[in-house]
Amino acid sequence: MALRAAAPLPLLVLLVLVPLAAGAALSGYFGTKSRYEEVNPHLAEDPLSLGPAAAAARPPAACAPLQLRALLRHGTRYPTAKQIRRLGELHGRLRRAALAACPAAAALGAWHMWYEESLDGRLAPRGRRDMEHLARRLAARFPALFAARRRLALASSSKHRCLQSGAAFRRGLGPPLPLADGEMEIEINDSLMRFFDHCQKFVAFVEENDTAMHQVDAFKEGPEMRRVVEKVADVLCLPADELNADLIQVAFLTCSYELAVRNVTSPWCSLFSEEDAKVLEYLNDLKQYWKRGYGYDINSRSSCNLFQDIFQQLDKAVEESKSSKPISSPVIVQIGHAETLQPLLALMGFFKDDEPLRANNYVRQMHRKFRSGRIVPYAANLVFVLYHCDQANSSKEEYQVQMLLNENLLPFHHSNKTISIYADLKDYYKDILQNCHFKEECELPKNNNTATDEL
Ligand SMILES: *[C@@H]1O[C@H](CO)[C@@H](O)[C@H](O)[C@H]1NC(C)=O
Ligand SMILES: *[C@@H]1O[C@H](CO)[C@@H](O)[C@H](O)[C@H]1NC(C)=O
Ligand SMILES: *[C@@H]1O[C@H](CO)[C@@H](O)[C@H](O)[C@H]1NC(C)=O
Ligand SMILES: *[C@@H]1O[C@H](CO)[C@@H](O)[C@H](O)[C@H]1NC(C)=O
Ligand SMILES: *[C@@H]1O[C@H](CO)[C@@H](O)[C@H](O)[C@H]1NC(C)=O
Repeated sequence: MALRAAAPLPLLVLLVLVPLAAGAALSGYFGTKSRYEEVNPHLAEDPLSLGPAAAAARPPAACAPLQLRALLRHGTRYPTAKQIRRLGELHGRLRRAALAACPAAAALGAWHMWYEESLDGRLAPRGRRDMEHLARRLAARFPALFAARRRLALASSSKHRCLQSGAAFRRGLGPPLPLADGEMEIEINDSLMRFFDHCQKFVAFVEENDTAMHQVDAFKEGPEMRRVVEKVADVLCLPADELNADLIQVAFLTCSYELAVRNVTSPWCSLFSEEDAKVLEYLNDLKQYWKRGYGYDINSRSSCNLFQDIFQQLDKAVEESKSSKPISSPVIVQIGHAETLQPLLALMGFFKDDEPLRANNYVRQMHRKFRSGRIVPYAANLVFVLYHCDQANSSKEEYQVQMLLNENLLPFHHSNKTISIYADLKDYYKDILQNCHFKEECELPKNNNTATDEL
């Protein structure tokens, strides 16, 4: 391996001094690997605080909540086996380079590689706390709905980290009620929470299509990424052609995992400046955009079932309320993935920029709405709250809704207001409610080579 002369001393000093500042400065750019505290900084001080926005977010006094539907992303998790394998390779390479007395490579070579492949994307202890605390905050905010002895309907993706997140959420609510015969603690429902796996058209057109991510691939080879690769290679005394965008991403991911999982700023962070972090954030967002967001229609259309299920449950609660019956499902909590929430938010029109995210418009997208770290950090949550409002002294409709993203009110797309008459919301989305059907959306076009196929 060709190695350059050792870096001069000032670099070593820089590397020793920079880490603390670096980790904090970079943490806003970790995309889907962001800590939940990035979107709610007050939680770093007090994880049970409802924060400054909660008081202002109260619905009108005449409104009482009837139903709460929460869609959650699992809490902080470990890297996947694939990411750990790549990190092992990069780390090994740097350890060998460290022999040639390159200070930056030596600092990383000396870092203890503690991740094992068996951790494979599992929920970290930190992730359990994310969920317990979230449960406690939601219960404090909606005490009537979460009151003891009321039924909580809990469903989850089959992934271990989601099931563990569900169990932690329930623990956060206090000692569980005894389960009725045949009742499960958590229902596994992948057709709702991992709809993307079940949508054949999405799988063929996006997931397994080598060219579907061409904007992502182009950005990896583009000028912004090349500058980061060259800079990091220089710091590590490696020839630039020994590194590539994927290895740089592994280093950046490791910085994010060490912060999220262990709450430490690792030496991996000192490879990057804030400018580098913005480029790497864009790379992550580009992938989310083309694979889960507005890039292809099928990404969001594949979430139709989930969307409709939300409104069916709201309708049911409205019907029960109208006929003065108890609400059968006052609290519905469902745990999935960033990949569950992002398509649904796109289906509903949120965080859409005027221009698509592309490899060649990094600068123009500097102030984009589509920043996945703001939308789907670990423990991200999208909550629908249905209210019954007393009409005594207002002409307002009886049934109203609010949406909260990560515990902050989300202004509705149709009105830019933070509360909506339920009927208006349904009216705005009537096309999706009536015409978006999972089966039709996700069906692959029929192969019409009948003559050969039917033999
Ligand atoms: C998943 O949820 C949908 C919608 O509520 C329901 O129709 C379906 O039966 C559920 N599947 C399982 C396996 O529980
Ligand atoms: C793969 O993606 C490209 C780019 O979006 C598209 O043109 C092509 O039709 C897709 N191929 C398949 C098999 O869906
Ligand atoms: C994380 O580390 C910071 C700084 O070292 C400390 O102030 C904070 O309490 C830690 N947070 C947690 C949740 O351990
Ligand atoms: C939506 O409302 C907010 C706060 O009232 C305001 O700052 C923003 O400009 C509005 N956006 C649109 C598109 O009307
Ligand atoms: C299949 O192709 C034939 C000949 O091109 C056409 O007449 C027929 O309508 C097609 N069938 C379907 C189901 O698209």
